[in-house]
Amino acid sequence: MASNNEIERRRTFAIIAHPDAGKTSLTEKLLLFGGQIQVAGAVKSNKIKKTATSDWMDIEKQRGISVTTSVMEFDYHDYKINILDTPGHQDFAEDTYRTLTAVDSVIIVVDGAKGVETQTRKLMEVCRMRNTPVIIFINKMDREAKDPFDLLDELEEELSIHVRPLTWPIESGARFKGVYNIYEHNLNLYQPSKQVVTEKVEVDINTEELDNQIGSSLADKLRGELELIDGVYPEFQVGEYLKGELAPVFFGSALNNFGVQELLDCFVEIAPSPRPVKAEEREVEPDEPKFTGFIFKITANIDPNHRSCIAFCKICSGKFTRNTPYLHVRHGKTMRFSSPTQFMAQRKTTIDEAWAGDIIGLPDNGTFKIGDTLTEGEMLHFRGLPSFSPEMFKYIENADPMKQKQLAKGIDQLMDEGVAQLFVNQFNGRKIIGTVGQLQFEVIQYRLENEYSAKCRWEPLSLYKACWIESDDPAELESFKKRKYQYMAKDREGRDVFLADSGYVLQMAQMDFKNIKFHFTSEF
Ligand code: G4P
Repeated sequence: MASNNEIERRRTFAIIAHPDAGKTSLTEKLLLFGGQIQVAGAVKSNKIKKTATSDWMDIEKQRGISVTTSVMEFDYHDYKINILDTPGHQDFAEDTYRTLTAVDSVIIVVDGAKGVETQTRKLMEVCRMRNTPVIIFINKMDREAKDPFDLLDELEEELSIHVRPLTWPIESGARFKGVYNIYEHNLNLYQPSKQVVTEKVEVDINTEELDNQIGSSLADKLRGELELIDGVYPEFQVGEYLKGELAPVFFGSALNNFGVQELLDCFVEIAPSPRPVKAEEREVEPDEPKFTGFIFKITANIDPNHRSCIAFCKICSGKFTRNTPYLHVRHGKTMRFSSPTQFMAQRKTTIDEAWAGDIIGLPDNGTFKIGDTLTEGEMLHFRGLPSFSPEMFKYIENADPMKQKQLAKGIDQLMDEGVAQLFVNQFNGRKIIGTVGQLQFEVIQYRLENEYSAKCRWEPLSLYKACWIESDDPAELESFKKRKYQYMAKDREGRDVFLADSGYVLQMAQMDFKNIKFHFTSEF
């Protein structure tokens, strides 16, 4: 835990959700509390969406989706909040996974009517890999929602995490009366308003006051439910939350700004300040005096007039100061940054200093790669930026013989940015691009044409999974590679990857080669 107050007061987190669960709406409301936008949610989200999310690339403007990740920061009471935005479209899930390596905690938004959805499940798996503390916000309670107890069961079962409600809804949809704040013991009555933050009513639930507020039958029901909650769910322990084992649950309606302040107030209090980060060599504590950080995201074309990129650096320890020489560990070179930036949606300002927990933008002309480490001289390598086995694969071919070089350079740089994964088939030398969704192929093609004047062509390739393989038995590894030589590839780091064309083939391989480990992520 950090002892430096500047670091201690920082809360760096991401809001994650299945598309349409209400991530944008919740982000807007949080920005509202931070004074970053003045219009309470009254304005339809499309308008604020432009403020709340970045839409730097042409392609995302055309498609109306947020492809890139941006950072929003604001002060709330004594806290400095950094929200890392993640792409809304699930084809860019890999980008979201990487962003999760730069946060200290997450808020998961779940649609109260839909419960846990595919993307929620996948994102939670990534959180679990890193024991990231999780708070859950059940949204859209102003609409007919599932029974709250069923929702809690579903969360526990589907997300494999213990839950503990800290607020409790009184009905939902047209009958929605509000939420009872279990840890503050007060009632927050719902008024369907996007502008007025409702007042809290202090109520002793065992008095008639509760009956007067919500009617006797609902009051009795609430008393019964609260008793049940106390009986079923152990008391909330911050320690378990911080270990990523227990998720506190809040209910509300982001669109109506209801239940959001409770969430934020509890969040700033319990969410972790910057946590220690594991490097290959050692664990780095945030309050170490010397600056260290790593690049988790590179974004191109923020300003279409200047074709430069911005590398997003998460500061892991100490203080970053402008114009100070820092070591780019992979290059073994010292670099100075004269215009590091911090972000507020589309606004970015040059900063003189930043602390552990902060995300800074560093102008980049191809010097950075995802995962690069910056230090004051120590040879550190931060880990924890896994690649996941892609879901879709295609051969990439040159469609303009005059532009071979441009294509190679474009592919190289786009892969450095982490747009997709590149494998080279060891049998035929062909390049294979692996993605999470179809949209990524379109983005690659578009960007190769627009930024590198190169043309590519896709050729179909039907694969089930790419698995990183390793073994303590070199002879077995060699024999496997010989047997599967048509399906062996190398990733960009030169590691062996097995391209399984069906689930059955993979299963057989696992059975026949017991001493080989097949990994579905590059971090093992
Ligand atoms: P996302 O970023 O997770 O994709 O979700 P977003 O906030 O954009 O919300 C998705 C849709 O759900 C939006 O409606 C939004 O207004 C609605 N929504 C969000 N929170 C609530 C809530 O608490 N209650 C209700 N009833 N609806 C909510 P839309 O029609 O798709 O877009 P828009 O026209 O409202 O912008």
